[in-house]
Amino acid sequence: MNTKRVISIFIIVAGLILVLAACGGKATEAPVVATEAPVAATEAPVAATEAPVALSGDTIRGAKLYDNWMKELGADVPAAMNPQWVAAKAGDTTVEKSYRCVICHGWSYNGEAGFAGVSASAGQDANGILAILKGSTDANHDFSAFMDEQALTDAALYISEQQIDVAAVVAMTGNGANGKTLFTDNCVECHGPDTVAISFHPDNAPEYPANIANEDPMELLGKLRFGQPGIADMPSGVDIGLTDQDYADMTAFLKAQPTASPVTEGGRMYDNWIAAFGATAPETTQPLWTGPLESGGEVIAAEDTWRCASCHGWDYNGDAGFKGILADKNLSAADLTAWLDGTKNADHNYSSYFTADDMGRMVAFIQQGIVDKSTFINADGTVNGDAAHGKELFNASCKTCHGEDGKSINFMEGEGGEEYFGSVAVEAPFEFFNKASFGQPGEAMPAGLNLGWTLQDFADVLAFAQTLPTK
Ligand code: HEC
Ligand code: HEC
Ligand code: HEC
Ligand code: HEC
Repeated sequence: MNTKRVISIFIIVAGLILVLAACGGKATEAPVVATEAPVAATEAPVAATEAPVALSGDTIRGAKLYDNWMKELGADVPAAMNPQWVAAKAGDTTVEKSYRCVICHGWSYNGEAGFAGVSASAGQDANGILAILKGSTDANHDFSAFMDEQALTDAALYISEQQIDVAAVVAMTGNGANGKTLFTDNCVECHGPDTVAISFHPDNAPEYPANIANEDPMELLGKLRFGQPGIADMPSGVDIGLTDQDYADMTAFLKAQPTASPVTEGGRMYDNWIAAFGATAPETTQPLWTGPLESGGEVIAAEDTWRCASCHGWDYNGDAGFKGILADKNLSAADLTAWLDGTKNADHNYSSYFTADDMGRMVAFIQQGIVDKSTFINADGTVNGDAAHGKELFNASCKTCHGEDGKSINFMEGEGGEEYFGSVAVEAPFEFFNKASFGQPGEAMPAGLNLGWTLQDFADVLAFAQTLPTK
């Protein structure tokens, strides 16, 4: 039985950032404060003639802090709403959003949610901006409890140096064919050729690059120019030298891409729809559950009895005494829906949890996503795959998060245990195959199927994964 693991990608990223911070340059000193005793009142006041020390830092990091400093720093979201947001009665939002610079000042730099923009600060001395970030104009605008001097400096330098006329770039006409080339060169290994390998939102309201391109092209431009907070390997256009025309081209390409991927969304629902939706789990055990209530000394959580995989298995041949659904790909959509909404069996009723769209995703997965993997995985758990080719695929699309040896993420960190990429491959190859195909519910992990991988490719990655350390 698969227990829920609690770990966030941000933990790794936080580690990375600590390392980077340790290697990175020290913040330049704050402007020197006048220490001399006050001059006698009769003398003309001494003008501060010294030019402030020029600040140095990383404006790309500053941009990611502006986007979401909590994600970029791997920091906890503060416990309560930002007092500045509350004071302005800026409306209902989450605590996290109330602390993000971009939510108040906008992707356009012209302000949002009733707040002023930061365009007046473009080209201004970063020392003055740094002071504003430390609360010089408003004590509620003091971020120094959350960010160290270098982070605040990076954000200030970004505000001063990297603002462009966002509206003008977004209004440019783009060449989708060139955008596709740029996407293939820089993004495809994580986002896949159809751009839908990673969903940014829960699977009952999925979001892909095309949604952002169409609904908020200014946000997309921000991501294209600077990358994604907390994802160190997502490139920044500023860093790799893309032009405004390149951004327009990529936007044109992305606008025309799909905004749904029902088979992989359904695959993650099959694994764990509660995690995939970020939903509140049912408190009672699934009424059909006749499996054990304990496994290896651990209580089986009520929510796990609601997971399709818990009863129908990772190989789709049934688990815990339940029947398999391998042959059900041949059922009609109407019949499958009748199985899911309680029509066929009142105890097999997901209709209070799944919308009609969700039912559609689940049906798409059963009809198109379920395959017999027993030709690749042998009865003894070994795999018919080419580990050398699997390593290439792993290096391209999985290593960035799981690490060279597959040990960067410990899936049992929350329970104080140890489980890695390599251990899942050895101990639960069918589960591995499912997750590699459809992604990890609730995580921004690419779905191999949307990376264009074939069944043999999955077997190859699995064969390679079985060579990695399990401890
Ligand atoms: C809750 C909304 C809110 C958030 C979040 C926020 N600010 Fe502000 N910001 C304001 C308000 C209101 C002002 C104007 C009042 C003042 O001077 O402090 C302001 C002023 C500024 C100014 C000077 C304005 C100008 O004319 O150019 C800059 C620069 C700035 N903020 C940058 C940032 C940065 C960087 C962050 C993130 C670290 C951030 N702000 C987060 C609301 C916010
Ligand atoms: C190393 C892997 C990787 C590469 C390469 C990569 N991305 Fe991403 N990208 C991610 C991940 C992971 C996320 C999701 C992060 C999250 O949900 O927090 C993401 C998020 C995004 C988002 C959505 C951000 C949001 O929060 O709404 C967009 C848009 C995006 N990427 C576009 C691109 C484009 C365009 C490229 C190529 C220039 C690219 N990415 C290259 C991994 C990558
Ligand atoms: C607690 C165990 C359990 C869970 C969880 C569960 N099922 Fe079932 N499922 C069953 C049982 C038992 C039957 C057969 C019921 C019957 O014959 O009346 C069944 C029947 C089915 C059938 C029809 C099989 C046939 O007879 O042809 C499908 C398809 C199916 N389930 C899919 C799913 C999906 C998708 C999920 C997750 C959304 C899910 N099940 C969750 C136990 C479960
Ligand atoms: C953007 C980061 C990211 C990338 C890239 C990524 N993963 Fe993951 N993966 C995660 C996270 C985070 C978890 C663990 C979540 C948890 O502990 O619940 C995970 C978990 C897994 C698990 C095990 C989950 C379990 O609970 O047993 C497998 C298998 C896996 N990933 C396979 C892959 C494969 C194959 C690739 C390459 C196609 C890949 N991952 C790429 C972030 C990523």
